Amino acid sequence: MSFNLPTESKLLKKDFVFGVATAAFQVEGANTEDGRCESIWDRFCATPEKVLGNDDGSVACDHYHRLEQDLDLIQSLGFDAYRFSIAWPRIEPKPGEWNEQGFEFYQRLIDGLIQRGIKPYATLYHWDLPQYLEDKGGWVNRETAYAFKIYADKVSQRFGDKIVSYATFNEPWCAAFLGYRLGIHAPGLKDDRLGFQAAHHMLLAHGLAMPLMRVNAPKAEHGIVLNFTFPYANSQSIEDLQAAQFCDAENNHIFLQPLLEGSYPAIVFKKHPDWSPVQYPGDLDIIRAPLDFIGVNYYSRSIVKDSQDKDFEFVDENLPKTDIGWVIYPQGLTDQLKSYSDRYSNMPPLYITENGAADNTDCVDGVIDDTMRTDYYQQHLQSLHTAIEQGVDVRGYFAWSLMDNFEWSYGYSMRFGIVHVDYQTQQRTVKKSGNTWKSFLEERP
Ligand code: GCO
Repeated sequence: MSFNLPTESKLLKKDFVFGVATAAFQVEGANTEDGRCESIWDRFCATPEKVLGNDDGSVACDHYHRLEQDLDLIQSLGFDAYRFSIAWPRIEPKPGEWNEQGFEFYQRLIDGLIQRGIKPYATLYHWDLPQYLEDKGGWVNRETAYAFKIYADKVSQRFGDKIVSYATFNEPWCAAFLGYRLGIHAPGLKDDRLGFQAAHHMLLAHGLAMPLMRVNAPKAEHGIVLNFTFPYANSQSIEDLQAAQFCDAENNHIFLQPLLEGSYPAIVFKKHPDWSPVQYPGDLDIIRAPLDFIGVNYYSRSIVKDSQDKDFEFVDENLPKTDIGWVIYPQGLTDQLKSYSDRYSNMPPLYITENGAADNTDCVDGVIDDTMRTDYYQQHLQSLHTAIEQGVDVRGYFAWSLMDNFEWSYGYSMRFGIVHVDYQTQQRTVKKSGNTWKSFLEERP
């Protein structure tokens, strides 16, 4: 089995990058080893009832100890690139103290990829803030943005152009809103104002770091990864259309617009002046640093309708869903890419930095027949092809995820891997989806 695309598809051209992705906290384990300090996710997992089954990241996929084997796995599947994240708590376990053992782990990872002909794509912040920074207010504290700038400087100095693509942040929407506004992710705070303040400081941190990263890694690409759940209006009524527009501004343009145009969408803070973050003059100019790319993580869409007492309401859809309950809607990828590329004339090249499905199909006689996930990939690759046909500039695609791993507040209950992980034995078994990827990548012209 393989994925089918029209033979003339740009996805099949040599320079289109196919990769697979993970993130440090979700796979590494070894969270007290070699000088790593506690992160906000260690603390969150240790707080009863925050994570399903009270699961934690202490072992995860034991990737820290199985690095060589996992790099061989990526190579055997035939991917061009690997997107991973660097754990700040390994690099700077105490304020201003730079941990050589932490650097060495990522040095081995990066060199191991290069030796195997795989391009390293790194993310500097995939949600694992050192707890000592949270103790001083975390992302609500402006100082954290300056701490990130120094961390980003050190990492990009050390690895330079060996990393071909640096993303400052992964999904600031999740890190700021799930973490500080909705209480679902670490550090578990629940306050609108804190959510927007955290978002502003993450954007500021991004903008402060970008010029330094460019100096340290002049040949690499530098950007940021955002997640959008593209909202569609429930009807063509003016009320529903406005509800969808507000939802889009509050969740999506709140990141895109400052990054690309140096302003926040006015309707959000006009309606909710109390959500408006404290900013210093000049912050938005810093945030609007030129971008080489934006990474887009796409999983699903949403339907939004007008509401009496809230800004909008989500409508539950009667469509097939993945095991985590997210509606399968491939067309949403085309629509979203097209919509945002049309809206911003200075949109940089895009990468799909994550796309995938929770499909918990278990291992039967050594075989994992994850047909739903396999179909999901086929449909979304087709949808991406359509977007590119319609003129959207997309340079690469990364499947989420290489292997089953720690799915944040869902613990280990949700499996996103194209490779199955038996958490008792740490055995990896390539699933049907993984084998389909392998055939597809091998058969490319
Ligand atoms: C995300 C995260 C991943 C998740 C994936 C599935 O960026 O949200 O990068 O860590 O595991 O999205 O929820």
